[in-house]
Amino acid sequence: MFSVFINRHRGSTMFVFFLAIALLATCVQNSEARVTFENGLKTMVYLSPKITQHQGSVSNKYYYDIEFPKGHIAIKSFNAEVVDEAGNPVSLQETYLHHWVAVRYYQRTGIKENIYNGNLGFHRSDVIIAGNAGICSHGLTQFFGLGSETRKTSTRVPDPYGIEVGNPLEVPFGYEEKWMLNIHAIDTRGAVDPMGCTECRCNLYNVTIDEYDRPLDPNYVGGLYCCYDETQCKVKDGLESVKRNLYLKYTVKWVDWSDSIVPVKIFIFDVTDTWQNTGIHDCLIEYDVEQSTTGIATNDSTSSRRTSVRFPISGDVVYGVAHQHSGGIGSALYREDGGVICSSKPIYGKGNDVGDEAGYIVGMSTCYPKPGSVKIAQGETLTLESNYSSEKSHTGVMGLFYILVVESSSESNYPVQVYEELKVPIFSWGLAVFGLAICAAVLVAYHRRKRSEDGYLSIAA
Ligand SMILES: *[C@@H]1O[C@H](CO)[C@@H](O)[C@H](O)[C@H]1NC(C)=O
Ligand SMILES: *[C@@H]1O[C@H](CO)[C@@H](O)[C@H](O)[C@H]1NC(C)=O
Ligand SMILES: *[C@@H]1O[C@H](CO)[C@@H](O)[C@H](O)[C@H]1NC(C)=O
Repeated sequence: MFSVFINRHRGSTMFVFFLAIALLATCVQNSEARVTFENGLKTMVYLSPKITQHQGSVSNKYYYDIEFPKGHIAIKSFNAEVVDEAGNPVSLQETYLHHWVAVRYYQRTGIKENIYNGNLGFHRSDVIIAGNAGICSHGLTQFFGLGSETRKTSTRVPDPYGIEVGNPLEVPFGYEEKWMLNIHAIDTRGAVDPMGCTECRCNLYNVTIDEYDRPLDPNYVGGLYCCYDETQCKVKDGLESVKRNLYLKYTVKWVDWSDSIVPVKIFIFDVTDTWQNTGIHDCLIEYDVEQSTTGIATNDSTSSRRTSVRFPISGDVVYGVAHQHSGGIGSALYREDGGVICSSKPIYGKGNDVGDEAGYIVGMSTCYPKPGSVKIAQGETLTLESNYSSEKSHTGVMGLFYILVVESSSESNYPVQVYEELKVPIFSWGLAVFGLAICAAVLVAYHRRKRSEDGYLSIAA
């Protein structure tokens, strides 16, 4: 498939062009057939719809009904990265992947999608978000999602566990299960202040109204409201516009469902969750870090933000990971007694290679507790802590934590699945999705080993 792209763009001959189209069509039709196997583990690599960018441009679109493995399966990992038309990985220094998230939803059968501009014009009742198990009331409903750290963050779900999807018994009558992908990519080529663009600083975007034409609070200096789809970050004067097409290449690994697989539930925590104060899981998704005024003198320039929430089920943690933005220095989820459930730290790039971009978070450390060793009790109050360096101010940062939990058998029928009606053109949902976005919390994991084999071969075969 990648060679098809290359040929097509070199525009050699009409013949190649039509051959390419034909191959592409075949490829798309047969993608399910070209699954690679490895001890029952199946791997499929997909490309998102095309993302067209120029210097300083922002793309933050929602792609509905994306390609995804079919059938009743257990997801074992979900990874992604941005590639160009030749299939080459793209540096965060050129395109900052603010976030990607994959959300499962149920769509009423027989409804023709009305997708415009990457957004969706469904009637509310035609779509039901089939989100994760919690904890936020709105938004952060994704199953999978990460940001700049996507290349070096494991999303592997250890055996014998799996994330169950495609169970026909769970799909409401008259609906079918589908997947949506939201990709937020910021082109920083030629930017006056690349890091400022990635932090969505409003002055660089010359934005005073949000995506829905509502005036922004003058105190809002940066974040998702300023870097929405088709906004433009400030670039150096006199640049000649260079457009290019990118894709999110996403790799899903799974096994067919069987009784030997133990299902895990996905929980996402947000350090901005207001539950502690309001009793409502209002997750604000992003926050700002003020520059420390005293820190330099005392060598303590850490902004430490915490929130506490009550956990709805009892179970064992089998995986954990945090999501932070540049400036992040670590995050942890604590039990009620103060014990650490999981501590996750950012990995910063050190150079100019793809996957090692200096100043960017290129990975997050993950936790794989020994099975049964990290238990959470139903109703236990957990505390999430997210630390950032406050040597500099930061806008639009995030503090998410993602865990996979095996529910204890005594409560195995506890209904924790979150169903939220989709209100697509509605602002709150949109914001939530962005947010999540990033965050994405990450999920899912993945073994980088054999990535090139698994990846390019299966897509090109
Ligand atoms: C910023 O936006 C205002 C109003 O939309 C516009 O008049 C002005 O030219 C913009 N400035 C820059 C530098 O793009
Ligand atoms: C701050 O840290 C630096 C090096 O990390 C050290 O040289 C300096 O003495 C410290 N200052 C204080 C006030 O602790
Ligand atoms: C966060 O910072 C606080 C204060 O400096 C420190 O006590 C705590 O251990 C840090 N937590 C993590 C997860 O790094």
